Formats: sequence, C-alpha cells, structure tokens
Amino acid sequence: MKNLPAKNSVEQAGAWKDTDGHFINAHGGGMLFHKGMYYWFGEIKKGKTWLVPDQSWECYRVPAGGISCYSSKDLKAWKYEGVVLSATTNNRRSDLDTSNVIERPKVIYNQKTGQFVLWMHIDHKDYSYAHAGVAVSDKPTGPYRYLGSLKPNGHDSRDMTLFQDDDGKAYLVHSSENNNTMHINLLSDDYLKPTRQYIRILEGKRREAPALVKQAGKYYLITSDCTGWSPNPASVAVADSPLGTWTTQANPCVGPNAATTFQSQSTYIVPIDPKRDKFLFMADRWNKTNLPDSRYVWLPMEIKAGKVTIQWQNERP
Ligand code: DGJ
Repeated sequence: MKNLPAKNSVEQAGAWKDTDGHFINAHGGGMLFHKGMYYWFGEIKKGKTWLVPDQSWECYRVPAGGISCYSSKDLKAWKYEGVVLSATTNNRRSDLDTSNVIERPKVIYNQKTGQFVLWMHIDHKDYSYAHAGVAVSDKPTGPYRYLGSLKPNGHDSRDMTLFQDDDGKAYLVHSSENNNTMHINLLSDDYLKPTRQYIRILEGKRREAPALVKQAGKYYLITSDCTGWSPNPASVAVADSPLGTWTTQANPCVGPNAATTFQSQSTYIVPIDPKRDKFLFMADRWNKTNLPDSRYVWLPMEIKAGKVTIQWQNERP
C-alpha cells in the first residue's frame, strides 16, 4: 500500500483537467506570475492531425488553434480563462490564419508600459516563414492585440522563449539559422521589438525548445535537440549574463527515460523560489500522430553549486 500515489495526485502525462473538468489545452506553454497568480499560456491544439506532404521530416500538424490561458494560485487547480489570442479563418495571408502555425507562446509584464507582452512562433504549414510574432494586452487574461511578426535582426526564428531579468531587461531567445544556432536578443524597453544587440550561441549545435532561468547571478538555458516531435536528450548552457559567454553542461535529467527528457521536450522553467532552489520544469510529451492528445510533464528542478538536476517523479509536483 505504501507506494500508492497520494489522493489528489496528478499523474505525469495523464489527462490533466481544469477546474471545470475539461482537458487542459495549453501546449508549448509558458508561465507568468503576476500579483500572486500564475497564468499558464499555451497553444490550443485541436482538430485532425495531418502530415504536410513533401517534407524532408515528419511535419505533422493541426490547424493553428490560437492561444489559451489558465490561472491558478497553487499551480494545481487551473481555471480556464479562455482564448486570449484567436486564430482567424479564410485569410491565408494573415499570420494568425488557421492554415499557419502559432507555437510556444510566452508572456511577460512590462512595468513601464503596464502592458502584458506576448511573443510566439509564427510560421507557415511547412515551417518556411520562421517569424516571431508579438501581441499586447492591458490584462494578463487578454484579449491580446496582435501587432505583427518579424525576423529578429533579419534572422529566421522558430522555437522561442522570453526571459525577463531582475533589472527589467527582457530577452527573446530563439532557434535560428535553420535551427542550427540559438540567438538571444535584447528587447526594446517596451518589449515590443528586438534591439540590435543580440548574440549567437550553441553555434551549429541544432538546439530547440529553449527555457531560461536565473539563479544566484548565473543564467541557465535548457534546450532540446532538434528531432521534430520526437523526444531527445536535453542539455544545459550556463552564462554570467544573457549576452555573455555560454558554456555547455550535460543532460540534467535523472531517472528512467532521462535520455529522452522523460519522453518529453522542454518548454519553460518557472522560478518558484530560486533562493530555496525551487524551480518547476515544464515539458510537453508530444503525440505526433494525434497532436491534440499531447500531454504535459512537470518536474521539480534543482540548481546546486551550478549544476542543474531534473529528477523524474511519477506525479506532478
Ligand atoms: C519541435 C518544436 O520544438 C515544436 O515546437 C514544434 O515546432 C515541432 N518541432 C514541429 O515538428
């Protein structure tokens, strides 16, 4: 009897439900903490999964479904806040058209402008467009007003994340150069544009799914390898500043399936209490042939003496 999961425990990659009893639909997501509340933003994946023909890789996809938001005080009970950025129909030239790709949304709050700023990956169905899109709202729960998309400093942008530093500066981190090299761009003070200051890191290493946190003055970037929807080993890079020199560390995952990031792929790290070494590692377990049935894996992450560890556990923390 000892090893039975605790009552109310939530199984990793199980059918996670919101407070209304509906399946949570927030993939490739990110987390905003604002005024005592966590807001989880993610891709809405619904509809039939299909394989885009004539691609050199397994380009499975569903129609772009827009971006959802869920709120919680305790990271356990998630209230559905609705669609915060809708996909549009019948205009293939629109970035937000359902025929396109809207992935990996991340939101940060700009103290100076009082606006919530949402960045996301915008692409065409074959991932040839490779833009970063941006939207704003006065409220965390939207609706967000889409401002458009761009190639940061002229470079292609696919998987991405945002990182907001303690000094108020914010950075857009994105896979670039055809997914060969990661770029980190300093954003403008209003967080709406990349500045000209950016660096190229992990050159030629083909990393995706970036997630960045800070602890005790050091910056830790977790990324995945680049294998489509199939899982692969994570790795860590460490630096003394976001635009500094990054050095790589080994796979931080420990436990069964550590070599495939527990059959999942990084999407965000929540700094729950960095001084007490408490982080939440958020990942997606993709189901490539039925993408709406993709699941979530959340694990506690530790950083001790500069070393990151993500240890498997069967239940969501
Ligand atoms: C891996 C990326 O991390 C996902 O966000 C998505 O773009 C898939 N590739 C598409 O295959």
